Amino acid sequence: MYTPFSLKGVLLGCSTSATQTEGSPTRNSWYDWAAKPGRMKDRSSPCNANQHWQRWREDNVLIQQLGLQVYRMGLEWSRIEPTPGRFCRKAMNRYREEILDLQKRNVKVLVTLHHFSNPTWFESQGGFLRKDSPQIFLRYVTYVVESIGDIVSDYVTLNEPNTYVTLSYFLAQWPPAKHNPAISIRVMRNLVYCHLASYRRIHRIREERGFSGRTMVGFAEHMRVFSAARPKDRPLASAMDYLFQGLTNAMYTGRLTAPLGVEAPFGDGRFYDYIGINYYTRLWVSGKYIGSKPDSEQTDLGWEVYPEGLSLLMRRRYRHLCAPIWITENGIAARNDKQRCRFIYEHLRQIAISGLPVERYYYWTLMDNFEWAEGETAAFGLIGCDFKTQKRSIRPSAHFYHEIIQNDGITQSMIDRYLK
Ligand code: BGC
Repeated sequence: MYTPFSLKGVLLGCSTSATQTEGSPTRNSWYDWAAKPGRMKDRSSPCNANQHWQRWREDNVLIQQLGLQVYRMGLEWSRIEPTPGRFCRKAMNRYREEILDLQKRNVKVLVTLHHFSNPTWFESQGGFLRKDSPQIFLRYVTYVVESIGDIVSDYVTLNEPNTYVTLSYFLAQWPPAKHNPAISIRVMRNLVYCHLASYRRIHRIREERGFSGRTMVGFAEHMRVFSAARPKDRPLASAMDYLFQGLTNAMYTGRLTAPLGVEAPFGDGRFYDYIGINYYTRLWVSGKYIGSKPDSEQTDLGWEVYPEGLSLLMRRRYRHLCAPIWITENGIAARNDKQRCRFIYEHLRQIAISGLPVERYYYWTLMDNFEWAEGETAAFGLIGCDFKTQKRSIRPSAHFYHEIIQNDGITQSMIDRYLK
């Protein structure tokens, strides 16, 4: 049963990342990784993606046509710092131009500083396993914020540090493909340091230079619901929950918890200006089975569609952190575009009825892009992309989303046209 609702007060937009959209080869860990045989589902490479590096003007026009109010985009560290400590002014200026153009189109930009990929030089020297990685990362962050801090007030320091550690250092599915719990903990600890230090640095630079606008810094946390099928599955579900999204507590409060440590390297404090949640699905834990709930509605990637999970997780974070909530990602891989419309409806509805201060919602993603190990096979976009011709095609869900933005919510006529 679909009913109209209002989303007044929530800014709506899309989220993207650099490596997944830009194409145009650069020396980063994913470009190198995809070149190795057997790594990718479809042999694709981020060298292609949406060729957004060249086509950004065309894409900005699409963003404006959809009426997006907010847009989350990533910067590619390896373009900005192609060799250690030497920055590329030309690349930085190119990002600046793109951001200014979006702003001219009335789009508020949120910049992600790190989204899963590392410059090859950094990765080959140990990446975030290095003890001095927080200093190296901070050098890059400082350069970026000194370069665009006058026009950008909103930042995501790290995208999903918990997913990154899990897939790259624990499950060995992403570069550098390690399978080592001790290393995972060390990397996670360094990522916490990176976030805490960046949080302080971004605020300091913007304040010292007198840049206008309220500085908003946080990180985007991938959150899942871990449901125990039976009472005896509860201990495992809780342990997974803690390791995946309990250790991240340190990134908010500054204080590490076991097994990361016990210290507060930057003092106890508040290292977030918003709660950034990336939400997609839940995991069902039943004996040795950990996956989507059997017989549930699922996406093309086999992920359960579980909208209630969004409210559960938002409430959980809000209770402890009490800050504005930004849904920094939420989306579905679906060739069936009607399923995408329903997914958007259901998740936005959770926001509308939650009574929580949700300020922003970023649908993942603007157009089908390079979906990491899935390559070019997953259709997350409101807009389709023919990866050979680079032709963009606007899906009905994009029109649906556009109307939601225009109407500040869902009307009966939209329900009749998009959801039935
Ligand atoms: C990541 C995106 C990814 C999306 C869909 C998120 O966890 O931040 O980069 O494309 O999930 O899998």
